[in-house]
Amino acid sequence: MPYLQKTDSEIYNLIKKEEKRLKDTLMMIPSENYASRAVEEAVGSVLGNKYSEGYPFKRYYQGQENADQIESLAIERAKALFGVEHVNVQPYSGSPANFAVYNGVLKQGDTIMGLSLAFGGHLTHGADASVSSKYFRAVNYELNKEGYIDYKALMELAKKHKPQLIVAGTTAYPRLLDWKQFAAIAKVVNAYLMADISHIAGLIAGKAYPSPVEYVDIITTTTHKTLRGPRGALIMVTKKGLKKDPDLATKIDKSIFPGLQGGPHINSIAGIAVALKEDSTKKFQKYVHQIIVNAQALAKSLMDNNIRVISNGTDSHLILADISNYGILGNTAAEGLEYIGVVLNRNSIPWDKNPPFYPSGIRMGTPGITSRGMKEKDMKQLGSIIAKAVQALGLQKKKSGITDSEERKRSFRTKLITSTKELKTLKADILKLTKKFPIPAAY
Ligand SMILES: Cc1ncc(COP(=O)(O)O)c(C=O)c1O
Repeated sequence: MPYLQKTDSEIYNLIKKEEKRLKDTLMMIPSENYASRAVEEAVGSVLGNKYSEGYPFKRYYQGQENADQIESLAIERAKALFGVEHVNVQPYSGSPANFAVYNGVLKQGDTIMGLSLAFGGHLTHGADASVSSKYFRAVNYELNKEGYIDYKALMELAKKHKPQLIVAGTTAYPRLLDWKQFAAIAKVVNAYLMADISHIAGLIAGKAYPSPVEYVDIITTTTHKTLRGPRGALIMVTKKGLKKDPDLATKIDKSIFPGLQGGPHINSIAGIAVALKEDSTKKFQKYVHQIIVNAQALAKSLMDNNIRVISNGTDSHLILADISNYGILGNTAAEGLEYIGVVLNRNSIPWDKNPPFYPSGIRMGTPGITSRGMKEKDMKQLGSIIAKAVQALGLQKKKSGITDSEERKRSFRTKLITSTKELKTLKADILKLTKKFPIPAAY
């Protein structure tokens, strides 16, 4: 980056430091991944200079001969990869994509039904803090005590509230979604069914997780998670969706532009096209299968080391663990693990007794570490390291007499983490792993 270095050394140095952070730590936030250099080159190209309001071959400004081809390529690749009838590749990210669907097919005040944020749904699925519950009436479904979606309860809730749109999608749910059962429920109340596959899109594209295409009307996904693309999103319309509403594709396109957005980010769309090409390979299929094998091996290792895993395992790329029996908050566990080089996030667990800001759990995923080439044997070691860190933090909290209310203050947590001696050895173990599995420069 010679030009950046010369023009803006502050930003240059921060990017270099971020490269080092990524190199020396394990990316275990399940919604993150490494995009290839090819994707980065497309996103960082001259395409960012172009205004292309409208859609391919129907633009408002001149000079579109390359933009039209780029956007068309992205659309065709997405259609082929997922097997859908229509794709909009312009959403700036996952949240605006979801809102664009609601805005396109619903009237203000209509009812949407999605998984509760506290049980693993996304903000945009009708959480109180989200605009999705301000313009629409939001009803949230929950999980059962075992940590699974209760489809019977969902059916009853749908019959009671008669939503116009049901969201089948999650952000912290490790198990398979039963698309068929969602479809049966949507049919009874004549609702649109939207699958938000943001987390699992790569797993679906690589045939490691069942596809919703046959069962749902609309699919939204981010492109920067398991698809390993740049930040962005897709909205897809299925054959089933067009049968239910022949104007569905038009409604969604109009909702994105001119409804919600102006000029599409053609540079990001080019990056999405590159990622979709990479995602169509046998190599990618092998990679996403390994993500799940690794997540299952990691869940087993955590449980073998006395960490409670929600629903006793996973069918996907992520694991939700309850660490409350060690007497510490998810915050302390996440910050302590960051200290040793395992970067994940604190998370509410189903039926959490603690508030969302101080939850009882941690959420972790294997897409990033699988991109680095780790396998089951490494998961066994990693599970043991994570468990040892959590247990050591719990013991140290007891020993030092830090109270629960003190633990809510960051300064106390920092004191706790820096005084937990075992973490130093574990930090060295993680650094060794990062050296053994460098971030690949290209895929
Ligand atoms: C299921 C789901 N939907 C939507 C989004 C929103 O995507 P973005 O952060 O790109 O707005 C996320 C992000 O984590 C997600 O997990």
